[in-house]
Amino acid sequence: MNNSLETFAEDVASVWGPLTAELVSAARQHLERLVCSPATESWLEALYCDMPAREELYNDPADGFVLLAHAEHARLYRPPHDHGRGWVIYAVVCGEIEMGTYARIDGESGASRLVKRYATLVRPGQVQVYLPGDIHDMLCVAGPALLLRFSDRDLQHEDKVEHRVTRYIHCEGLWTARLQDNTAVGIVSREGIAKHDKSAGCEKHG
Ligand SMILES: [Fe+2]
Repeated sequence: MNNSLETFAEDVASVWGPLTAELVSAARQHLERLVCSPATESWLEALYCDMPAREELYNDPADGFVLLAHAEHARLYRPPHDHGRGWVIYAVVCGEIEMGTYARIDGESGASRLVKRYATLVRPGQVQVYLPGDIHDMLCVAGPALLLRFSDRDLQHEDKVEHRVTRYIHCEGLWTARLQDNTAVGIVSREGIAKHDKSAGCEKHG
Protein backbone atom coordinates (compact mmCIF):
# COMPACT_ATOMS: atom_id res chain seq x y z
CA MET A 1 0.00 0.00 0.00
CA ASN A 2 1.32 3.41 -0.93
CA ASN A 3 2.03 6.01 1.71
CA SER A 4 0.28 9.36 1.40
CA LEU A 5 3.27 10.99 -0.30
CA GLU A 6 3.27 8.41 -3.09
CA THR A 7 -0.51 8.70 -3.38
CA PHE A 8 -0.21 12.49 -3.66
CA ALA A 9 2.29 12.22 -6.53
CA GLU A 10 0.12 9.71 -8.36
CA ASP A 11 -3.05 11.76 -7.82
CA VAL A 12 -1.46 14.97 -9.13
CA ALA A 13 0.07 13.17 -12.11
CA SER A 14 -3.34 11.70 -12.96
CA VAL A 15 -4.88 15.17 -13.41
CA TRP A 16 -1.81 16.99 -14.77
CA GLY A 17 -2.10 19.31 -17.74
CA PRO A 18 -2.08 23.01 -18.63
CA LEU A 19 -2.80 25.48 -15.85
CA THR A 20 -6.57 25.68 -15.30
CA ALA A 21 -8.84 26.38 -12.34
CA GLU A 22 -9.70 22.68 -12.32
CA LEU A 23 -6.05 21.63 -12.10
CA VAL A 24 -5.34 24.12 -9.29
CA SER A 25 -8.43 22.96 -7.41
CA ALA A 26 -7.47 19.31 -7.76
CA ALA A 27 -3.85 19.89 -6.73
CA ARG A 28 -5.05 21.95 -3.77
CA GLN A 29 -7.37 19.21 -2.60
CA HIS A 30 -4.63 16.59 -2.91
CA LEU A 31 -2.24 18.80 -0.91
CA GLU A 32 -4.88 19.44 1.75
CA ARG A 33 -5.24 15.68 2.10
CA LEU A 34 -1.46 15.17 2.21
CA VAL A 35 -0.88 17.80 4.88
CA CYS A 36 -3.32 16.00 7.17
CA SER A 37 -1.38 12.71 6.93
CA PRO A 38 -0.81 10.86 10.21
CA ALA A 39 2.44 12.01 11.83
CA THR A 40 3.36 8.33 12.15
CA GLU A 41 3.95 8.04 8.38
CA SER A 42 7.69 7.60 7.98
CA TRP A 43 8.26 10.53 5.60
CA LEU A 44 6.40 12.93 7.90
CA GLU A 45 7.95 11.52 11.04
CA ALA A 46 11.39 12.16 9.49
CA LEU A 47 10.45 15.75 8.65
CA TYR A 48 9.27 16.43 12.20
CA CYS A 49 12.54 15.00 13.46
CA ASP A 50 14.87 16.79 11.03
CA MET A 51 12.94 20.06 10.45
CA PRO A 52 15.00 20.65 7.27
CA ALA A 53 15.68 24.13 5.91
CA ARG A 54 14.86 22.67 2.49
CA GLU A 55 14.19 19.12 1.43
CA GLU A 56 12.87 17.94 -1.91
CA LEU A 57 10.24 15.28 -1.26
CA TYR A 58 9.24 14.61 -4.85
CA ASN A 59 10.19 15.76 -8.35
CA ASP A 60 8.03 14.33 -11.09
CA PRO A 61 10.19 12.98 -13.91
CA ALA A 62 7.47 13.33 -16.54
CA ASP A 63 5.57 16.49 -15.65
CA GLY A 64 8.17 18.39 -13.64
CA PHE A 65 6.08 19.31 -10.63
CA VAL A 66 7.93 19.44 -7.34
CA LEU A 67 7.09 19.03 -3.68
CA LEU A 68 9.40 20.53 -1.06
CA ALA A 69 9.38 20.67 2.70
CA HIS A 70 10.97 23.52 4.60
CA ALA A 71 11.10 24.55 8.22
CA GLU A 72 10.93 28.17 9.33
CA HIS A 73 12.03 29.48 12.72
CA ALA A 74 9.87 31.92 14.63
CA ARG A 75 9.93 35.48 13.26
CA LEU A 76 11.69 34.42 10.02
CA TYR A 77 10.54 36.84 7.34
CA ARG A 78 10.67 36.15 3.63
CA PRO A 79 10.15 39.45 1.78
CA PRO A 80 7.84 39.88 -1.21
CA HIS A 81 8.68 37.78 -4.25
CA ASP A 82 6.99 36.12 -7.18
CA HIS A 83 7.65 32.65 -8.58
CA GLY A 84 8.42 33.59 -12.16
CA ARG A 85 6.23 31.60 -14.53
CA GLY A 86 5.48 29.09 -11.82
CA TRP A 87 2.46 28.52 -9.63
CA VAL A 88 2.70 27.36 -6.08
CA ILE A 89 0.60 25.96 -3.25
CA TYR A 90 1.90 26.27 0.30
CA ALA A 91 0.57 24.05 3.06
CA VAL A 92 1.34 24.44 6.76
CA VAL A 93 2.07 21.21 8.64
CA CYS A 94 2.81 22.81 12.00
CA GLY A 95 3.36 26.33 13.31
CA GLU A 96 1.68 29.41 11.88
CA ILE A 97 2.67 31.54 8.90
CA GLU A 98 1.29 34.96 8.03
CA MET A 99 1.20 35.26 4.24
CA GLY A 100 0.70 38.69 2.67
CA THR A 101 -0.11 39.43 -0.96
CA TYR A 102 0.91 42.46 -2.99
CA ALA A 103 0.07 44.12 -6.29
CA ARG A 104 2.65 45.94 -8.36
CA ILE A 105 1.21 49.38 -9.10
CA ASP A 106 2.33 51.83 -11.75
CA GLY A 107 1.81 55.37 -10.39
CA GLU A 108 0.94 58.50 -12.35
CA SER A 109 4.58 59.61 -12.23
CA GLY A 110 5.57 56.40 -13.93
CA ALA A 111 7.01 54.96 -10.73
CA SER A 112 6.15 51.40 -9.75
CA ARG A 113 5.66 50.21 -6.22
CA LEU A 114 4.19 47.29 -4.32
CA VAL A 115 0.92 47.73 -2.43
CA LYS A 116 0.03 45.12 0.17
CA ARG A 117 -3.42 43.70 -0.38
CA TYR A 118 -3.89 41.77 2.88
CA ALA A 119 -2.29 39.14 5.07
CA THR A 120 -3.73 35.75 5.97
CA LEU A 121 -2.78 33.64 8.96
CA VAL A 122 -2.21 30.12 7.66
CA ARG A 123 -2.55 27.43 10.30
CA PRO A 124 -1.81 23.69 10.27
CA GLY A 125 -3.81 21.90 7.60
CA GLN A 126 -4.45 25.09 5.63
CA VAL A 127 -3.08 26.01 2.21
CA GLN A 128 -2.51 29.11 0.08
CA VAL A 129 -2.36 29.24 -3.72
CA TYR A 130 -0.17 31.68 -5.70
CA LEU A 131 -0.59 31.79 -9.46
CA PRO A 132 1.99 33.10 -11.99
CA GLY A 133 2.58 36.81 -11.35
CA ASP A 134 1.28 36.76 -7.77
CA ILE A 135 3.57 38.45 -5.25
CA HIS A 136 3.66 37.41 -1.60
CA ASP A 137 5.66 37.49 1.59
CA MET A 138 5.78 35.16 4.59
CA LEU A 139 6.34 35.70 8.30
CA CYS A 140 6.59 32.79 10.72
CA VAL A 141 4.44 33.98 13.61
CA ALA A 142 4.50 30.69 15.55
CA GLY A 143 7.51 28.47 15.10
CA PRO A 144 9.24 26.41 14.38
CA ALA A 145 6.90 25.90 11.47
CA LEU A 146 7.00 23.15 8.88
CA LEU A 147 5.62 23.84 5.41
CA LEU A 148 5.09 21.87 2.24
CA ARG A 149 5.49 23.76 -1.02
CA PHE A 150 4.06 22.30 -4.17
CA SER A 151 5.17 23.99 -7.41
CA ASP A 152 4.39 23.23 -11.01
CA ARG A 153 8.11 23.38 -11.86
CA ASP A 154 11.58 23.49 -10.33
CA LEU A 155 11.65 27.01 -8.90
CA GLN A 156 15.39 26.89 -8.26
CA HIS A 157 15.86 26.50 -12.00
CA GLU A 158 13.30 29.24 -12.65
CA ASP A 159 15.28 31.51 -10.30
CA LYS A 160 18.97 30.67 -10.71
CA VAL A 161 19.03 29.59 -14.36
CA GLU A 162 16.09 31.32 -16.01
CA HIS A 163 16.28 34.45 -13.78
CA ARG A 164 12.50 34.78 -13.88
CA VAL A 165 11.93 35.19 -10.14
CA THR A 166 11.66 38.75 -8.83
CA ARG A 167 12.38 39.56 -5.21
CA TYR A 168 11.69 42.91 -3.61
CA ILE A 169 13.71 44.96 -1.18
CA HIS A 170 12.44 47.64 1.21
CA CYS A 171 14.21 50.76 0.04
CA GLU A 172 13.51 54.37 0.94
CA GLY A 173 10.03 53.51 2.15
CA LEU A 174 9.06 51.47 -0.89
CA TRP A 175 9.22 47.83 -1.87
CA THR A 176 11.27 47.77 -5.04
CA ALA A 177 12.62 45.00 -7.24
CA ARG A 178 15.97 43.59 -6.19
CA LEU A 179 18.71 42.82 -8.69
CA GLN A 180 20.88 39.70 -8.62
CA ASP A 181 23.72 41.68 -7.02
CA ASN A 182 21.44 42.74 -4.12
CA THR A 183 21.07 46.29 -5.37
CA ALA A 184 17.57 47.58 -5.90
CA VAL A 185 15.86 48.63 -9.07
CA GLY A 186 14.30 51.58 -7.32
CA ILE A 187 11.90 53.79 -9.15
CA VAL A 188 10.88 52.44 -12.52
CA SER A 189 10.33 55.78 -14.23
CA ARG A 190 9.32 56.90 -17.71
CA GLU A 191 12.97 57.74 -18.26
CA GLY A 192 13.95 54.17 -17.48
CA ILE A 193 15.12 52.25 -14.47
CA ALA A 194 17.01 54.14 -11.79
CA LYS A 195 19.39 51.81 -9.99
CA HIS A 196 19.87 52.62 -6.32
CA ASP A 197 23.16 52.03 -4.63
CA LYS A 198 22.82 49.26 -2.06
CA SER A 199 24.30 51.48 0.62
CA ALA A 200 21.46 53.98 0.21
CA GLY A 201 19.29 52.89 3.10
CA CYS A 202 17.91 49.68 1.58
CA GLU A 203 16.99 46.85 3.93
CA LYS A 204 18.25 43.53 2.66
CA HIS A 205 16.27 40.40 3.49
CA GLY A 206 16.69 36.69 2.79
FE1 LIG B 1 6.88 32.10 -2.35
